[in-house]
Amino acid sequence: MAVLDILVYPDPRLRTIAKPVERVDAPIRKLVEDMADTMYQAPGIGLAAVQVNAAKRIVVIDLSKDQSDLHVFINPEILKAEGRQEIEEGCLSVPEVFAPVSRAESVVVRALSKEGERFELQADGLLSVCIQHEIDHLDGKVFVDYLSRLKQDRIRKRLQKQAKRAIQPVSVGDAVTL
Ligand code: NI
Repeated sequence: MAVLDILVYPDPRLRTIAKPVERVDAPIRKLVEDMADTMYQAPGIGLAAVQVNAAKRIVVIDLSKDQSDLHVFINPEILKAEGRQEIEEGCLSVPEVFAPVSRAESVVVRALSKEGERFELQADGLLSVCIQHEIDHLDGKVFVDYLSRLKQDRIRKRLQKQAKRAIQPVSVGDAVTL
């Protein structure tokens, strides 16, 4: 078990475009486990490898309250996206910031499992949002990119100031942190 450091916005490494995983081998499975540990410890409901400074296309998600429903997506691809929904999003890399983002209501995603097996999953609601949010991370995108320039500036300044003072952000109860 290892808890990894999570990059904080506006760290330029969050702009890394992750590369596909060529083979799901022991080091990749170890990274998946460490990512799950890191997400649970944070706590959050989703984490992308780019957020722990690993340029691999790997996402972990668990929406359960008791860490019982881990989804692992290696090389995830959205095959189909339908409808529209907007929920208030947060992100482990953007502490204490929450804002609504418009995304597809349902998606069909194809990925490899932790065992390296290909699967397809149809998701809607929060799981769908989470998948879209995490795949954005793999493409160097953060949810604040969807907000107005003014809001982005404010968030960036606030987090830079916090980093300077080395204030530990307080985690926000049961808000959605992806
Ligand atoms: Ni995030």
